[in-house]
Amino acid sequence: MHPDMNTPKAATPIDQVREIEFPKICDPRGNLSFVESARHVPFPIRRVFYIYDVPGGETRGGHAHKKCWMALMAIAGSFDVRLTDGRSEKVVRLNRANKAVLIPPGVWDTMSEFTTGTVALALASEFYDEDDYIRDYDEFLTYAANLRNE
Ligand code: TYD
Repeated sequence: MHPDMNTPKAATPIDQVREIEFPKICDPRGNLSFVESARHVPFPIRRVFYIYDVPGGETRGGHAHKKCWMALMAIAGSFDVRLTDGRSEKVVRLNRANKAVLIPPGVWDTMSEFTTGTVALALASEFYDEDDYIRDYDEFLTYAANLRNE
């Protein structure tokens, strides 16, 4: 038997990707959701940014972070987010104002299939720092392999 047969594969950042549902207070006057820092997301929120007026067919993202955690959601409209650690992939459709996907560092994300009027909101654990980004996919593959000690 191969020595690795019984050894579970080490967890990689993609295993930490999960969907988060925020509280939703339903009301005939309109619904309300809220997010508390370090309570509804597993990090203190240092930055919020949003993407809007996305032309049909455009993609956003196309990068990974070294340190920054992110919770990404569609507060209006919908879009797909494709996440990979370079080996396995997860695709999540964000289409509800109280649903987010948690994106750990070391995961490459691509956003696409935006419907008209979509507003994508991101909550981030870090201030903006271009040095935290990996924007080259080949560089990311090497980085991800190093994380797995390959
Ligand atoms: P970019 O990371 O390419 O956007 P996307 O989320 O689609 O990947 O960012 C676009 C530009 O905006 C880039 O020049 C960096 C700048 N930017 C900031 O200045 N602060 C921020 O918090 C973010 C997310 C981007």
